[in-house]
Amino acid sequence: MAAPPPTPGLAPRVASTPHGTGVANRDDALRAMAGALAGPGLVVVTGPPGSGRTRLLERLARASKRPVHAGGGLAMLSGQPALALERATRARMPAGDLPLLAEAVYSRTRGGLLIIDDLQWCDAATLAVLPVLAERLPVAAALRVPNRLGEDALARLLAAATVVPVPELTETEAAQLVAEAAPALPPTRAAALAARAGGNPLALTALARRAAHT
Ligand SMILES: Nc1ncnc2c1ncn2[C@@H]1O[C@H](COP(=O)(O)OP(=O)(O)O)[C@@H](O)[C@H]1O
Ligand SMILES: [Mg+2]
Repeated sequence: MAAPPPTPGLAPRVASTPHGTGVANRDDALRAMAGALAGPGLVVVTGPPGSGRTRLLERLARASKRPVHAGGGLAMLSGQPALALERATRARMPAGDLPLLAEAVYSRTRGGLLIIDDLQWCDAATLAVLPVLAERLPVAAALRVPNRLGEDALARLLAAATVVPVPELTETEAAQLVAEAAPALPPTRAAALAARAGGNPLALTALARRAAHT
C-alpha cells in the first residue's frame, strides 16, 4: 500500500550535515542533539530496535550541564496516562488536562533537560504535551521505527521536532565494538560481521559473541 501523502506544514526537520541529510556518525548525532537543545526545543532520535537510541540519550544526559529529568514509556504499561512523565518527574501527573499537565511537568523540570525514551510505548497525553513543553524546555526523546503510534499524533509530534535518525555504526565504531565484545576475534572479521548486522550495535554484539564461540 502506498504511504499517505505528507500533511502540509507537518514535515519534521531532519538534522543534517553540510554533506546531506542525516548525520554521519554517533558523535555527529550527539552534536546535532546538543546543538538543537542549547535552548528550548524538541529532538527525537529515531531508529530500529538495538540501533542505540537509548545509548545516545544516555550520552546526552551525561554531557548535559542542566539537571536531567529522565523517564520513558514501558511496553507493558503503554496505555498508562502520562507514565513516562511521572517517571521523569517522580510525581503524579494530571494526565486528563493538557495545559495543567504541561504546567505540572514544567514546574518540576524548569531549568533542566527532559528526556523521554521509548515514545513508541507512550500514551496520547505524553505525546501531545511534549511539543507544548518544548516551547519552554529542552526535550530529548527516542522513538522506535517502525511503531504503531497513531498517524496524527506522530505527525504533530514530529512537526515540532528536529529528527535525528541514529546512523549505522561506522567501520571504526563497528571495529571497536567487536574488539570489546569479542576480543579474541581477528579484526579482519569485524567488517564482515558489521555488514551482516546492518550497522546495528545490538545485532553486531550478538554476532561477534557468537562468532567468538565458533
Ligand atoms: N556505539 C555503541 N557501541 C557499543 N555498543 C553499543 C553502542 N550503541 C549501543 N550499544 C549497545 O547496543 C545495545 C542496544 O543499544 P540501545 O541504546 O539499547 O538501543 P535502542 O535503544 O535503540 O534499542 C545495548 O546493549 C547498548 O549498550
Ligand atoms: Mg532503547
